[in-house]
Amino acid sequence: MSFNEKHWPEFAETWIENWPSGLAKLSYPQIGIPLNDSETHALGLLNGIHSHCFNANLANNLDSLEKRLNRAIQHFPDGVFVRLGSRSPKDTLQGMITGCKAFDGQQAIRLLTSGSSRIAYDLRIAIKANYQPWIFVRQWKELSPDTEFRCFMQHRQLIGVSQYFHKTYFPRLNQEPIREALNESLQRFFTLFSKYCPIDDVVFDVETGYEGDAKITLIEINPFHPLTEACLFSWDNKDFDGSVRVLEKYCHIEYNPSSNSIFLKKV
Ligand SMILES: Nc1ncnc2c1ncn2[C@@H]1O[C@H](COP(=O)(O)OP(=O)(O)OP(=O)(O)O)[C@@H](O)[C@H]1O
Ligand SMILES: [Mg+2]
Repeated sequence: MSFNEKHWPEFAETWIENWPSGLAKLSYPQIGIPLNDSETHALGLLNGIHSHCFNANLANNLDSLEKRLNRAIQHFPDGVFVRLGSRSPKDTLQGMITGCKAFDGQQAIRLLTSGSSRIAYDLRIAIKANYQPWIFVRQWKELSPDTEFRCFMQHRQLIGVSQYFHKTYFPRLNQEPIREALNESLQRFFTLFSKYCPIDDVVFDVETGYEGDAKITLIEINPFHPLTEACLFSWDNKDFDGSVRVLEKYCHIEYNPSSNSIFLKKV
């Protein structure tokens, strides 16, 4: 199979290799590395999840990929965040421990083949669709969890913003001046984002300044779909009301197993 003809698996329009340059400029400096057919199969096999979906006869060694990764990573002396254009391998123990950070090609390959169900799934659908997957190495940025927000855009309207780590109470985010600054800077960023984002409905993650008012950086975009975590909103309840939601001290989170969703309960 070759990747000559480009097919688009579901949601591929959100993957980094398909971002227009204006959108990429709102995010971290990064280098993309397209994978050839044999590298895709070799990564899938080495990853060890759903190995039967990858073909050992098509898989070559990964020396050339490692060299290309080394060359790319050299541009980022403080290390890189490693992911596919689609998703990161943050679901593995190694991904969790390292935060998906690598300093050379070998570490990057190890991360991408550390038994990730996400990587297995994404490589598999790429092969099925005859789609060429990409690896991205992105400038490492030390992120404080209370500066990450998930934003929901529908029909090019900002219909909600939630703290990304939605199960943690951050006292700082409940300070009125911080909330005001956040509201204002998110609105300002959204004007830019909605201009450059090629998709009308999307879930996008951002890093805000520590005081809420500094420059906002786009982390990535995700499908506007219940498969994307809704954080402090609910796909079931459709409670996207334009608010910026942070966990308040007097709220606790309850889990509803029948709908597999969480909701906030004031106590
Ligand atoms: N450049 C970076 N430097 C350091 N940490 C990062 C960087 N980019 C992302 N991260 C961290 O890794 C997390 C996951 O990254 P990212 O959103 O790119 O991958 P993902 O697998 O698509 O995640 P999600 O499940 O949130 O959609 C981010 O929420 C952030 O905490
Ligand atoms: Mg994502």
